Amino acid sequence: MKIIQAADYEDLSLKAAQLLAAEILLRPEAILGLATGSTPIGLYEQLVLMHQKGLLDFSQIKTVNLDEYRGLDPEDDQSYAWFMNHHLFQHVNLNRANTHLPDGSNPDAEAECTRYDHLIKSLGGIHVQLLGLGNNGHIGFNEPDEVFPKGTHCVELEASTIEANARFFANPEDVPRQAYTMGIQTIMMAKRILMVVSGKGKADILDQVCYGPITPKVPASILQLHRHVCIVADEEALSTIHQHQRLNKS
Ligand code: GLP
Repeated sequence: MKIIQAADYEDLSLKAAQLLAAEILLRPEAILGLATGSTPIGLYEQLVLMHQKGLLDFSQIKTVNLDEYRGLDPEDDQSYAWFMNHHLFQHVNLNRANTHLPDGSNPDAEAECTRYDHLIKSLGGIHVQLLGLGNNGHIGFNEPDEVFPKGTHCVELEASTIEANARFFANPEDVPRQAYTMGIQTIMMAKRILMVVSGKGKADILDQVCYGPITPKVPASILQLHRHVCIVADEEALSTIHQHQRLNKS
């Protein structure tokens, strides 16, 4: 695991955007695995700026997102499809036919999960997977569990996840209770992984992810086994790791 230390959220966003931009420059036809949540928003803003300056071309890029709430239509402004359009897709020259998310409006969970796994396979896998980190160590919506789930599946969201995501909804009761998410195996098969982590609230869990035991109870801990993981984290998110003196301060 390579940990890149950023001073604050702005610095984190810029550094992570530069890393993703480098992937796009090296491989203009890359398959990007994308993430939602508040942490990658600044990174997406930076990518949009680079595109507007003529520095980044998305015309051959294909994207697959990690997850989507089950029961939300892509047009719903709380859906991750809407989030991606709003923060990235509509601002860059991505061919919309090349952008993919699980379809939250498909009530047939089995069919939807199978479709999404086939789609990722048919694209030939993911070159670089962007990840945020849930407060409980989840990646995508892979919640703490007894086993590491493999492929795309439907999850019951944990109470803590529903609570954490309630800030995006008018009423906490509106937060969907289920989601479709890419599985851990699919994430682990990505050639490279870029994780962004910000804020004091993530400091303890980030320490567990990087230095704790590898366990499905902390789903992101499995990233310790991946050959090419880069974590960009700000000082607050790194505070527990520094407290334990596991990493030299930059
Ligand atoms: C949601 C998403 C995750 C994301 C997590 C953290 O649960 N499904 O992919 O990593 O939120 O979000 P935030 O970056 O807002 O803390």
